[in-house]
This record gives sequence, C-alpha cells and structure tokens, in this order.
Amino acid sequence: MLKKNKKNNEPLRIAVLGSGKGSNCQSIIDAIANGSLSAEIVCVISDVEDAYIIERGIENGIPSRFISAAPYKTKLDGQAEQNYLEELRRYDAEVIVLAGFMRIVKKRLLDAFPRRILNIHPALLPAFPGVDSWKQALDYGVKIAGCTVHYVDEGIDTGSIIVQRAVPVLDDDTPELLHTRIQVEEHKAYPDALRILRAIIRD
Ligand code: GAR
Repeated sequence: MLKKNKKNNEPLRIAVLGSGKGSNCQSIIDAIANGSLSAEIVCVISDVEDAYIIERGIENGIPSRFISAAPYKTKLDGQAEQNYLEELRRYDAEVIVLAGFMRIVKKRLLDAFPRRILNIHPALLPAFPGVDSWKQALDYGVKIAGCTVHYVDEGIDTGSIIVQRAVPVLDDDTPELLHTRIQVEEHKAYPDALRILRAIIRD
C-alpha cells in the first residue's frame, strides 16, 4: 500500500481523520495553500456524522465523509476499521493525520501505515495523556502547557515525539482560554511536523 517509489518532489498524500471542528485540518489546508507544505489532503474521514470537519473538507474541495465506527465507543476496530482502511486505500493515502480523532487506532491500521500515522495532543507529553488534557494541566497547576505531535503507536498518546510547542498558563486561565491558546500553537505544530515527516519520507 505504501508507495516507496514516489518522486522526491511529489506532494505528500495526507488523509485527515477527525471527530470535531477540524481547526487543525484547516491549518494543514492553509499551509498547503500558502506553499509552505508540499502536500495534498486526499480525503477527510469523520466518525461523527455532523462534525464540522466534514463540511470544512467539502468546502475546500476535499472528498470528505462520515464513516461509522460503531459499535465501539472509543476505538476503531473490526468492520469499521476495515471500512476506514478501504477508504484510505481508495484515495492512495500515504500519511494519516489524526486531528481531534477521539478514538484509539488499533493494530491493523497501524500495521498498514507503519510510522505514517501522526496524532496531535493538547499537552506536553508524556504529561497529561488522555482526554481534556488542558483541563488536567490547569487542575494540576502547571505553569507551562502546550501541544505535542507524535507518531501513533499501540499505546495512548505514547508514540515518539516529532514536535512540541509550549504556552504559558496564566493566573486567571479557564480551561477554555487555555485550550484556545494551545490551539494557536497546534496550528503551527501540525504543519511543522508534516514538513519533518515529508523530509523523512521523500529525501
Ligand atoms: C485539538 O485540540 C486536539 O489536540 C485534541 O482535539 C482538538 C481537536 O480540535 N485532540 C485530543 O484531545 C486527542 N486526545 P480540532 O477539531 O479543531 O482540530
């Protein structure tokens, strides 16, 4: 499935998987549009039927659709995993970008895309894995928070780190304000990580 013989100058073929509003997907769309990332988003897939990321993809001319991950609530497994794989193969995706995709990716997908699946996490890993990490950081009382782009492995937010960006935690922060500040950095971190991955794959 992974084409080893792509020419060095060919755009990276990225599939974006997301469950939410897709602002990280937008940051990648923007980086491609302004010429700072040589890539093409070949498809967007969401496990949430009315997620805005689908609309965002369609508005940008990207094949974008909901694919159910039922009956599971927190993982992508079984027939659903197979359906995702078929869609990814249909669009000849090389790299999978998890952009707010709130499910655990299992072995079959990992084996089909070795070192080609990235995730963005709204904390400075290995601190605060799991959900609502910005809230965990605030509750813990850390003074520096941030985001991490990492390779996906079989653990939860455990894969090796590609890019991290830090933000200060302010005295009067709310979870929402902190998450917004982290997201500003996420939107720089994902294009940066994809530039690094592209260099690894193509050079
Ligand atoms: C991002 O903050 C991302 O780091 C987080 O979901 C948000 C998605 O935003 N992901 C996780 O918490 C994964 N554990 P977006 O839909 O606007 O890109």
